[in-house]
Amino acid sequence: MCPGRGLLWLHPFRSASIVLGPIFPLKGRIGHYYAKFDKAIKTISNDRLTYQKDVEAYEALNIYGENIVGTEGSAWKRHRTIAKTAFNESNHAFVWTETIRVINEWFTELEEVAKTRGKAFTIDLLPALTQVTLLVVSSAGFGRRASWTEDSKTEPPPGHKIAFRPAVTSAVGNIITRALTPGWIYNMSEKIHIPVVTPILKETKQSFEALGLHMLDVVSQARAWIAGGKTTQMDAALLRNLVEANMAQEVDSDQRRLTDEELLSDTFVFLLAGHETSAHSLCFSIALLALYPEVQKKILEEAMKLWPDAPPTLASHTEYTWAVFHETLRLFPPVARLAKNVHSDTVLNARTFTTLPEGKIKDVQETYISVKAGSMVIIDVFGLHMNPIHWGEDVADFKPERFIDTDTYRWPRDAFVAFSAGPRSCIGQRFAITESLCVLASLVRKYEIILPDDLQGKPLEEQKRSLLHWTPSVTITPTGARVRLRLRQ
Ligand code: HEM
Ligand SMILES: *[C@@H]1O[C@H](CO)[C@@H](O)[C@H](O)[C@H]1NC(C)=O
Ligand SMILES: *[C@@H]1O[C@H](CO)[C@@H](O)[C@H](O)[C@H]1NC(C)=O
Repeated sequence: MCPGRGLLWLHPFRSASIVLGPIFPLKGRIGHYYAKFDKAIKTISNDRLTYQKDVEAYEALNIYGENIVGTEGSAWKRHRTIAKTAFNESNHAFVWTETIRVINEWFTELEEVAKTRGKAFTIDLLPALTQVTLLVVSSAGFGRRASWTEDSKTEPPPGHKIAFRPAVTSAVGNIITRALTPGWIYNMSEKIHIPVVTPILKETKQSFEALGLHMLDVVSQARAWIAGGKTTQMDAALLRNLVEANMAQEVDSDQRRLTDEELLSDTFVFLLAGHETSAHSLCFSIALLALYPEVQKKILEEAMKLWPDAPPTLASHTEYTWAVFHETLRLFPPVARLAKNVHSDTVLNARTFTTLPEGKIKDVQETYISVKAGSMVIIDVFGLHMNPIHWGEDVADFKPERFIDTDTYRWPRDAFVAFSAGPRSCIGQRFAITESLCVLASLVRKYEIILPDDLQGKPLEEQKRSLLHWTPSVTITPTGARVRLRLRQ
């Protein structure tokens, strides 16, 4: 039986990277690889013809149409070319101001909490940060400002059945249902009422339609704005930028312009790719700041030097905060494995070595691994990030300084692949960094981040086990991230 395209997501061989999600990386067994793979990984990342992204795993995401995530070869290139111009300086400036806006809404909510729970209180980081990053990417992606308090009771604008924010929340919440359910099931459930199933499918369908309509509004507004000579101010949201870059594309070039469906589809995958990853990394970062007060102190010093009185204006010279965020991504890379299909026979160059009990390494040897066409290589991001040959013998320690170059040290660029590497790397890297540095600097400026009461005075290892605990999933998910916040005077 062929259950339809939607179920390809669960095909055990095609979508290895997603199916492996819940079980790989194996907890407690990760890290400490006995080979130097940076060269091999560079080859795998950069040789786009031999090593292609395992995109069949992502075909289920082509909900509004083909997009940058679920395509390869020349189809992918079309999307990437247009998208590259959309993620530019004006958008990053917009990401920064929107992050400030959203964070201030969050702070207002926290002030309400403080009224009942006192000057210091413990919060769960995951729901809060998921909300922050979802609102930022909705706004900087779609160009629709959604607010912290807008919900399903909010009156939809004329011509819409559902307001923007609830449409986003519902679409994101139902993405798995939407991706796994083939179209004919929707048609059937409309004809035959199935308890539980029919209402869920109905909500899912409606939210995706509603969000599509909101996005089409932005597309037509952007077109009208460009046609009218751009006389008014319009936010540099990704979707607006995409429309503009797409219109600037030569009609007769071999790279056809993107259709409206494709523009929508790209913007939607930015939302998906861009909120969970950032939210999870921020949870780990903030928990680490509670565990390492001396690191937090340095972020505060940097923030106070850059923005002595006002809240932060656009990022500049946030060297230390940048290093903290990167060190977090080294230890907790949201995307823990990267799968590539091998398209022609090839040979990979790597190095092996042995580790001595005290963490020292010896017997480094050059080795060649032959790889056959049709195989799949999986880059183990953790393995690379935890490899002492690149990061030194203190590889397991949280040490932001390792991301700061000095006269005698240059941090190993090729051994950091949290955003992948090469042409297929994360297009939202600057977006994510801009947003995250803004969150960290703003939060540390306003609140002192401390350990929850029950962990005070416990051994560091126990505190870490509790606050940094995670489960493997499509992106690694923090499960115990909570901190106490105390308003700074
Ligand atoms: C800390 C945050 C983030 C991390 C760690 C991250 C990581 C990654 C990684 C590892 C990939 C490659 C995936 C693969 O090859 O299977 C990727 C691709 C991608 N990311 Fe991110 N990402 C982050 C934030 C974002 C944001 C904020 C956006 C958009 C606003 C975004 C949009 C994308 C897109 C569109 C791709 C596909 C690019 C292509 O195939 O050409 N990401 N990301
Ligand atoms: C579902 O129904 C619509 C309209 O009735 C039709 O256009 C579409 O092809 C159907 N989809 C499937 C998968 O049967
Ligand atoms: C960013 O891209 C948009 C669309 O292509 C363009 O209008 C805008 O001028 C660009 N901004 C910068 C700073 O490059």
